[in-house]
Amino acid sequence: MGKLEGRVALISGAARGIGAQAARRMADEGAKVVIGDVRDDLGRKTAEEIDGGRGVCRFSHLDVTDPENWQAVVDEAVEVYGRLDILVNNAGVFIGRSLEEISFDEWKTLVDVNLTGTFLGTRIAAPALREAAKDTPHGSAIVNLSSIAGLVGSMVDPLYSMTKGGVTTFTKSVALYFGKRGDRIRVNQIHPGVIETDMGDQTYTARARALGTNDVDAAKQASLNMHPIGRHGTADDIASGIVFLASDDAGFMTGSSLVVDGGLTAQ
Ligand SMILES: NC(=O)c1ccc[n+]([C@@H]2O[C@H](COP(=O)([O-])OP(=O)(O)OC[C@H]3O[C@@H](n4cnc5c(N)ncnc54)[C@H](O)[C@@H]3O)[C@@H](O)[C@H]2O)c1
Repeated sequence: MGKLEGRVALISGAARGIGAQAARRMADEGAKVVIGDVRDDLGRKTAEEIDGGRGVCRFSHLDVTDPENWQAVVDEAVEVYGRLDILVNNAGVFIGRSLEEISFDEWKTLVDVNLTGTFLGTRIAAPALREAAKDTPHGSAIVNLSSIAGLVGSMVDPLYSMTKGGVTTFTKSVALYFGKRGDRIRVNQIHPGVIETDMGDQTYTARARALGTNDVDAAKQASLNMHPIGRHGTADDIASGIVFLASDDAGFMTGSSLVVDGGLTAQ
């Protein structure tokens, strides 16, 4: 039996990258998965690839900055699949500009998606997660995608780092909130190193700019050299951590952080 048999999961920003791989891995473990994203065509394609083959999955349009969208997707998960056990606040954006380069609108986009999106998802999914928690051994789970940039400073995007630092402390705060109320909703987070996704590619371009060159290959090598394990991470490396934190294997973890960074922040 899969680790997530009988559970229902909602993953934001799961049309591609880490979120899409988390959807595949959760479906493999028996969860019914709802993928939410602003990329409708790609999101539908990802859901169709999973559904019927690896497991049960559907796509629903979700802009994480919009409370009405969140409410509609949570309601849909409960209506279609009967409950909601797992929320993965995965949607995120990276801009890759320095303190003096970034525009005010770019800053607001970072705040809207990375911070407001995580806050809204957590608040709006809470009633459904609380209800589902009543009949599972270790309750419901929220997994937030922070970053190594939520633990240490970032040379390539200090404002992204500021938003991910907010996710880091928000995760702990809401873990305390749900814990003290007896809600049985565990809240944990992952801090990925550089991961081979579209966002990972964006970081090489930003690093090249921060180094004062246009040499993206050299910037990629410099990024690689920062990871003692000798490679960048894959979406599957992070999906493994997400599945673990969402499952009963992590039943005694809340307010906690899983650093999956190839040793980058061990230095
Ligand atoms: N890739 C990395 O190196 C890395 C490192 C640390 C943390 N992370 C974090 O992991 C998460 C996933 O990153 P990824 O590498 O898969 O990125 P990605 O850019 O490949 O995918 C992000 C997804 O979020 C979606 N999205 C963006 N804005 C949205 C919105 N307003 N509403 C709904 N969906 C939206 C995008 O359409 C996309 O499908 C992000 O929170 C990111 O900050 C990534």
